Amino acid sequence: MASHGVEPLDKRHDRSVFSCGTEALDRYLKQQARQDADKRVAAAFVLVVPTASQVLGYYTLSASTITADELPPELARKIPRYPQLPVVLLGRLVVDTTLKGCGQGEFLLMDALHRSLDAASMVGAIAVLVEAKNASAETFYRHFGFTPLQGQPARLFLSMKTVASLFG
Ligand SMILES: CC(C)(COP(=O)(O)OP(=O)(O)OC[C@H]1O[C@@H](n2cnc3c(N)ncnc32)[C@H](O)[C@@H]1OP(=O)(O)O)[C@@H](O)C(=O)NCCC(=O)NCCS
Repeated sequence: MASHGVEPLDKRHDRSVFSCGTEALDRYLKQQARQDADKRVAAAFVLVVPTASQVLGYYTLSASTITADELPPELARKIPRYPQLPVVLLGRLVVDTTLKGCGQGEFLLMDALHRSLDAASMVGAIAVLVEAKNASAETFYRHFGFTPLQGQPARLFLSMKTVASLFG
């Protein structure tokens, strides 16, 4: 298999045949992602084979906030009591059906975590937050150490300290 790369979505990328099995996530890539990126609502990054334009996967990143009482108490105790705490929101992370089970989901996730860590060194963010769209997504994120916010099983986070430790 040719080695894949991840790059910011732009108009050269062919999104027309992308299919992940969840229509809303396909539609987002095809109809909304460029506009969100242009308006800086969410930055989209796509998985491609270098020199080809077909999108094989994607994820989005945005700035967001949580409150201290959404964190598990043992972690909240260690964080200054500001009303809002900054996080990087990993809004979606999706791989084309043809590539599932080949390690590309993990590859995209590591890329997203690395970019989030870079961003946090410039604007501050205590964690990467994900909003799992279904039970399978939830178990995928748990597999990589994400844990739920208080009482919100579908909203999971990984502290930026943990993300930093992944990259030495
Ligand atoms: C979830 C998704 C991104 C996983 O991508 P993938 O390329 O199939 O996963 P990978 O092959 O990279 O798997 C990496 C590891 O995660 C594990 N894994 C994959 N999907 C998993 C799941 N749903 N639950 C638990 N573990 C999972 C694999 O077993 C593998 O573990 P290992 O390295 O210990 O063997 C993909 O199935 C997908 O696009 N799903 C539809 C969209 C979606 O629900 N996205 C998430 C939220 S928006």
